[in-house]
Amino acid sequence: MKKTPVLLLLVALFLTSAVRSQTVQLSVSDTSGPQISRNIYGHFSEHLGRCIYDGFWTGDHIRMDIVDALKKIKIPVLRWPGGCFADQYHWRDAIGPKDQRKRTVNATWGMVTEDNSFGTHEFLELCGLLGCQPYVAGNVGSGTPEEMENWLEYLNFNGKSTLADLRRQNGRQEPWNVSFWGVGNESWGCGGNMTPEYYAGEYNRYSEFCKDYPGAPLKLIASGANGPDYNWTEVVMKNINRGRTWGLSTHYYTVAGTRQHKGSATSFGEDDYFKAMEACLRMETIVNKHSAIMDKYDPKKKIALVVDEWGIWTDAEPGTNPAFLYQQNSMRDALIAATTLNIFNNHADRVKMAALAQTVNVLQALVLTDKDKMLLTPTYHVFDLYKVHQDAHSLAVKFSSPDYGHGGEKIPAVNVSASKDSSGAVHISSGKS
Ligand code: AHR
Repeated sequence: MKKTPVLLLLVALFLTSAVRSQTVQLSVSDTSGPQISRNIYGHFSEHLGRCIYDGFWTGDHIRMDIVDALKKIKIPVLRWPGGCFADQYHWRDAIGPKDQRKRTVNATWGMVTEDNSFGTHEFLELCGLLGCQPYVAGNVGSGTPEEMENWLEYLNFNGKSTLADLRRQNGRQEPWNVSFWGVGNESWGCGGNMTPEYYAGEYNRYSEFCKDYPGAPLKLIASGANGPDYNWTEVVMKNINRGRTWGLSTHYYTVAGTRQHKGSATSFGEDDYFKAMEACLRMETIVNKHSAIMDKYDPKKKIALVVDEWGIWTDAEPGTNPAFLYQQNSMRDALIAATTLNIFNNHADRVKMAALAQTVNVLQALVLTDKDKMLLTPTYHVFDLYKVHQDAHSLAVKFSSPDYGHGGEKIPAVNVSASKDSSGAVHISSGKS
């Protein structure tokens, strides 16, 4: 029998006070597994609080200090304009001369005035500066198939048409060839309170009008389950036009407390720490269970599981608008990011895209700003360390984790992923609880 070559490593891991420093023996298979799509390292930017306005976009320009920081971590894909905001967004409100753009209300996030100064052109300019793929979430909840069809023509048609000419008149000659396209967001909740049966019908109706223009084949992503809602995945996978589907999303947030009292981002004890890590590790079960359902309908794994919202959600910082979801970032956030990215790396056969919520000033951000100042959070540095896994081939890791016990419960103290890049270099990343 042919033996699989392994790399043996002894890793000294310095764990929390509850677990004494221990040596963990790892063996890493040298047999390449599935490729880890760079898009697992994606991000999310919503018209919410200070992510876009007073974040990426100040006054009338894109902040280049933020762009430079995100280029450094090789941001591969950016999701926009929501989130819940996507299903109240009407793209025509935010094109053309700024002073003629519609003023609307961001009714989802704080009832603030949306001046639409950041719209389609600005978002795609941002993606161009970042060198990343755009991922647009289309409006199913309060939109129409016609509105979605028109937006795609405006974005992607290179020929002569009133909408393509309008794009040119607004300053963009060439089509953008946007490919990643979300058909709604959280359609079970803020995206329209639909049942999975109803949504599957809507998906089939909308996707019929999402046209592939020459040179711009779409990768359609169906709105997916709320964390462990496996029935959503079952019904949607069964009923959607799978041949017209590139991915199915799911959203899962790490919450240490309750929905009403999520706990502070910085002022927490071991109890909250343990609960957060325990909740974060649940991502593994969520990915496994959704994947098993998808395997039934898509055994060749052609449809991606897209975890396009994840991260820790805490109480907003005291003194800030609670609807703006501004939270601080600590080493706990870094460990949550590392642990989650290890889970995604280890399921690269099915998880082919993900997006941390959210890039700037919202939830588990990479970048926090204060007027013209900017800081990079602990989470940012995890993405910097983990960028070596982008497009590398995953390697199976065998090891036995010590337990981290607290309050009569136990979770694994260590988690790991590994990959081999195109130069043959092996990278091993470890998270801990
Ligand atoms: O990321 C914040 C919100 O969380 C998003 O708008 C929504 O999709 C989710 O519920």
